[in-house]
Amino acid sequence: MSLPRITILGSLNIDLVSYVPHHPLPGETLTSSSYVVSPGGKGANQAVSCAKLSRSSDLSSPSAHVSMLGAVGTDSYGQQLLQSLKGYGVETEGVKVREGANTGVAVIIVDEPTGQNRIVLSPESNHSLKPEHFKTLPDPKPDLLIMQLEIPFETVMQALAAAKAASVPVLLNPAPAQELPLSAYDGLAHLVVNETEAAILSGAREEDLDSLAELQRVGALFIERGCRNVIITLGGKGVYYVNKAGQSSLVPALKAEVVDTTAAGDTFVGSYALAVVNAGNGPFDIETAVKEANRAAAKTVARRGAQVSIPWKDEL
Ligand code: RIB
Repeated sequence: MSLPRITILGSLNIDLVSYVPHHPLPGETLTSSSYVVSPGGKGANQAVSCAKLSRSSDLSSPSAHVSMLGAVGTDSYGQQLLQSLKGYGVETEGVKVREGANTGVAVIIVDEPTGQNRIVLSPESNHSLKPEHFKTLPDPKPDLLIMQLEIPFETVMQALAAAKAASVPVLLNPAPAQELPLSAYDGLAHLVVNETEAAILSGAREEDLDSLAELQRVGALFIERGCRNVIITLGGKGVYYVNKAGQSSLVPALKAEVVDTTAAGDTFVGSYALAVVNAGNGPFDIETAVKEANRAAAKTVARRGAQVSIPWKDEL
């Protein structure tokens, strides 16, 4: 039986991470308690999440093919990212190496007491991905295309149109958030957003998303705009989902030791995406998919780093 394929079009960044006793105040110089350079980027993290959660740590028994589309520079960071992806079983033929360019970099500050991060992103080669490169989706066509917003917005919109023309379902994780044109929602298979992103996309106030009634209103708005499945992740407060068939629920978060939240959302997306493609043409059980994704993300937050912190299938 042939395995389903997930393709991720998105960013590859090297994360320069400092762990600090508190986030620095304006004008404050802070000494970190430790510093790590590690492979990240929302696109690459989501690819790694799909790969690690679909196979054992010896790379055996995969349940999906995972391919990455993106761009890195000719610096050593680019090579480090490619090695990381390959080591986890991600196909990297679709990652372009831009001669003389820099690889994307994310400067991350993790507040040790809470595990919460603050991120400054320098896109570099990620912004060399232009709409004209995605007039059609490259072969092999996937069963699901995943995208975020760390590559140029127009490129994501073009790839959405190309996916629609090829009848390839899309999971869009619009992070970092910006408003989307109404056409982006039309027929979108899966919209995965956190509270901040949900607020920006809907015009709601983020603090109001504490109430179930407001989550229901915002979820219904995204369904009305044309999404088939909507997921709103709420950190420690759980995950709200609603689909076109009218199923909806607020699934509580799992209790987890929080060391570093980096890539928790990316882990969630990868796990959820695997549930989507592994359902094939059969019924997709959104509630189970959300619960499994919560379980995987709870493992990620208990460890430091991005790709390295995502669990393998045999660790769940
Ligand atoms: O989602 C986490 C990722 O966001 C980090 O790995 C960093 O690269 C930023 O893009």
